[in-house]
Parts: sequence; structure tokens; C-alpha cells
Amino acid sequence: MKTRLITILNILILILSCTGCASLQGVNENSGKTSSAAGYETDAYTGGEIEGLGSVYEGRDEDSTPVKRVGVAMPTRTSERWINDGMSIKARLETLGYEVDLQYADDDIELQISQIESMIRNEADCLVISSIDSTKLVDVLKKARDNGISVIAYDRLLMDTDAVSYYASFDNKKVGTLIGEYISEHMGLKKASESGRSYTIEFFMGSPDDNNALFLYKGLMEVLKPYLDDGTLVCRSGRTSFYETCILRWSEDTAQGKCSDLIKEYYRDGDLDIACSAFDGFAYGILKAWKNAGLSEDSLPLITGQDAEKNAIKNIAEGRQGMTIYKDTRILAAKCVTMVQALLENSEPEINDTFQYNNNVLTVPAYLCDPVIIDEENYEEILIGGGYYTKEQLFQ
Ligand code: BGC
Repeated sequence: MKTRLITILNILILILSCTGCASLQGVNENSGKTSSAAGYETDAYTGGEIEGLGSVYEGRDEDSTPVKRVGVAMPTRTSERWINDGMSIKARLETLGYEVDLQYADDDIELQISQIESMIRNEADCLVISSIDSTKLVDVLKKARDNGISVIAYDRLLMDTDAVSYYASFDNKKVGTLIGEYISEHMGLKKASESGRSYTIEFFMGSPDDNNALFLYKGLMEVLKPYLDDGTLVCRSGRTSFYETCILRWSEDTAQGKCSDLIKEYYRDGDLDIACSAFDGFAYGILKAWKNAGLSEDSLPLITGQDAEKNAIKNIAEGRQGMTIYKDTRILAAKCVTMVQALLENSEPEINDTFQYNNNVLTVPAYLCDPVIIDEENYEEILIGGGYYTKEQLFQ
């Protein structure tokens, strides 16, 4: 998966360099790899909306206004969504006339710290950060604050620091609630509970160093816990708490290994009804584990996910995955960019949550976008109709 993504990215970079789109590319100095705004070939990055945005140059004497710099630190390229997020933010900021340094840290905490340090050294005016481990950036964030650089937490909250001005994310608790509601409706849990029928379930939750994962779990359990309590849902492994089911760094391989172990120990006959997964990457791992255990596709459990990745949509369309959560990264990027503008232009961005996201030091003012359930019924209308993917991208 990782290799495939990097290969695709490299092909796009090649195409861009051949067509002279050099200005859309940025070199990741610390890793020596290229991180490029190659995403202009698809609306998933821009939504075709950025042309209408104004420019920071408008109405100004260009010679007297130094270009403002924004450092964008993204966690990884192993999952499609972060590539979309990074490209979309970069494209929008560049349209506004900002200089952008986009870096991906390949899930390496030390690399992310050194990337942020280099952004500080290069006198960024603002930093947009999506952390790998939300608690490990406290010192480097203090450095940013001491240098007068504003910080926006992007999608993942930055914990244990006062050096963060705003948080742009999705409603992370609602992501969990939606997954729970989908399972409940799809399996008919209310009726099952009344008639005494039961279903087996196992949980594959997100990374313990990512605040989003815990919020998702809380939303999920608000819906499913009553059914676990009354025996409608039976978890044979007994692992239902967040800390028993979380998967470090959202690793697909770990999810696969965990699922293989669960099959061996509790579901040799393929009688797992629900694999409640918090991420499309986990869903791929679960599918591989199922296949490797020699179990048939016909007996697949209901598998859930998050991020509406292309492979997940293909699996949904072909009946291997039940649902995913679509987080339109174009909308999130646009919201984040309004925060950057507000910080750099001394204005107020739109905020819609001022109480949920306390990072142990302060409650960070947030804008939370709306997550949407995607299944076989609506993926065409929402994802293809909404210009997020083309049919060819999904099914070629
Ligand atoms: C994001 C999810 C994503 C996960 C793994 C989380 O912080 O909110 O959308 O699936 O990271 O990349």
C-alpha cells in the first residue's frame, strides 16, 4: 500500500516536471524526498473552488509586501487522505499568494520535529501541523511560539501545549456515532435485542497517541455499548475497551496481524459478524487476514472504515466492505486556510466549537466539519457526483 502510494506520487511528480509545472512542487529537505502539489489532476485537492479566492497581493504594492510563509507539516503518505489534505492546503495557500513549505514525516516523530524546526529556522509566519504523536511536539511548539510563529492544529489536536491558536478538524465523535449507527441499522440491532438474537463483533480502534481515535471510540460506544451490555453484541475476545483495541500509528499491518490472531483463536469457522474498524487501512488488513485464513469472501463480516479511500470505495462497490466515513479534505483545507489568513491578517476566522477540544492546557477554538457515511447506495452520488473522485479513478 505504502509502496504503491509512493509510486503513484512519483509518477505524478514525473508528469508534472515534464509538463513544466515546477511551481507546484516542493522538496522535502529533511527526508530528501519530493513532496509535490501534483494533485491538480483531480478535484479531490481543489474542488475546482480555489479560483474564486482573493490573493494576499490584491490592492497592495507588491514590492513593499514580503511574501508570507506557511509551513505545512503532515504525518504520513501511507494513507491517501494526508496526500489529499497536504496538496489541497498547499494549492489554496499558493493561490492566495503565500509561500508554502509542505513536508511529510512518514510516521517518524523525530523527522517531523526536525521538519518543524527547519520551518522555524526558515522564518515561517504560520505553521499548520497534523501530528504523528500529539504529545511529542511540546518543545518544538514552544520554539515556534518564542519565535512569534502562530500554529494551527490540522485534523489532529496538539496536546499539552498553549502554543496553538486554532484547530481545524471533523467532528471526531460524530465519526464514531455514525459508524455505530450504521452497524446498528445494518444489522438491525434494535430488533435483534428485542428478539434475543446476537451477533459477534470485534473492534479495531485508532492510534492511542491520536486524540481523534479516543473521540471516535466514545461516539461509537454511545451507540453500541447498550447492545454489548444486553448481549446482542458478543465480543468473544472480550476486548472492548479503547486501550485493548487501539492500534498504534493506525497501522494496516498491525490490524491484519490482530485480525489473524482473532480468527485463529475465536472465529476459525468464519463466524465473525462485525469487524468494527476505525480506518479504511484496517479494513484492508482485515480482508487480507480473512483471505490468508482460507475463509471465503461469502462469509465476510460487516467491515466498517474511515476516510473514503479509493480502494475502500472499490471494496464497498464490490461488496467486501460495508461502509466508510467520507471526510471531504477540500472543505477541511479551505477552513484551515481561512484560519491561516485570519492569523496572518489579524482577523477572526469562523469557529463552531469552543468547548470540546481541551488539550490539557487550554480549550482550543475549533472549526469542525461534518463527516458523511458512504456505502454502496450513495458513493456514486456523493463522491463521483460531488467531484471528489472520477469513475475512472475508482475503477480503472
Ligand atoms: C484521522 C482519520 C485517519 C487516521 C489515520 C486520524 O487522525 O482523523 O481520518 O483515518 O488519522 O490516518
